[in-house]
Amino acid sequence: MDENNEIWFGVDGKATPSRKTFLSELKIDAPPTATVWLHSDVGNNHEAREESKVFNPDSPFPTPKPERLLTRILEIGSKPGDLVLDSFLGSGTTAAVAHKLGRRYIGIELGEHAVTHCVPRLRKVVDGEQGGISKAVVWQGGGGFRFFRLGEPVFDETNRIHPAVTYPALAAHVWFSEAHFPLPAAPQSPLLGVHNGTAYYLLFNGILGDRRPEGGNVLTQRLLRLLPPFAGPRVIYGEVSLLDEGRLRAEGVTFKKIPYELAAR
Ligand SMILES: C[S@@+](CC[C@H](N)C(=O)[O-])C[C@H]1O[C@@H](n2cnc3c(N)ncnc32)[C@H](O)[C@@H]1O
Repeated sequence: MDENNEIWFGVDGKATPSRKTFLSELKIDAPPTATVWLHSDVGNNHEAREESKVFNPDSPFPTPKPERLLTRILEIGSKPGDLVLDSFLGSGTTAAVAHKLGRRYIGIELGEHAVTHCVPRLRKVVDGEQGGISKAVVWQGGGGFRFFRLGEPVFDETNRIHPAVTYPALAAHVWFSEAHFPLPAAPQSPLLGVHNGTAYYLLFNGILGDRRPEGGNVLTQRLLRLLPPFAGPRVIYGEVSLLDEGRLRAEGVTFKKIPYELAAR
């Protein structure tokens, strides 16, 4: 390949070899303008590695994309203020570029580089770092982001509740699926809270499939009396209810069965 001028070893001849692709060899059938993106416009792997080294000189991310490439993509597909999702965040290029271009963004990364690469990079972006596209877009810093760690999944792959799920995790999910905003604090009782005049309860003793009436997952007459009172409609999530429809109606209770009536989102 070297003899045929098909390979490049970098400026100093010592870099990891890259295969050369000549514009003349590219199949540029219609629509050529949209499919051929020139290195000179959108950057290249070398440029991306240099950008990434600025953030993590000791362990640069192995497969970063250049900021100019993400700029092209975001400018084609979004407007300022839009929400950009990259579920394979890598070194955080998409989030960094989205931030500099005034987009909102969500980045998901399962590797430790979420902590070692993405977070420090975005902090520097907020502080006004001048690498990548910063000069071209006159980036001066500002804005912010939040970093979250995902907990245990609530549902398994068959949409059943995951056996490892805890009461607070399930409570947070039940609450969010009803109220569409997060539960403000870990619940201190089966009453999760009141939303739009309806009280939401969760009966869950942490043991799935426990249908013993005394186990805490089952709505019984006795348990209903023990629940924190609420003078209004009540929605109670539990494994099973021993109260018939008429009784539930008379009590102003809608019973929802876990997991069937709890949407996996
Ligand atoms: C090729 S890299 C992305 C590079 C990125 N565009 C950049 O410029 O840095 C793909 C990333 O996806 C992550 N990943 C793979 N599977 C994932 C998953 N299921 N959820 C979240 N991240 C995942 C990998 O850890 C890796 O960092």
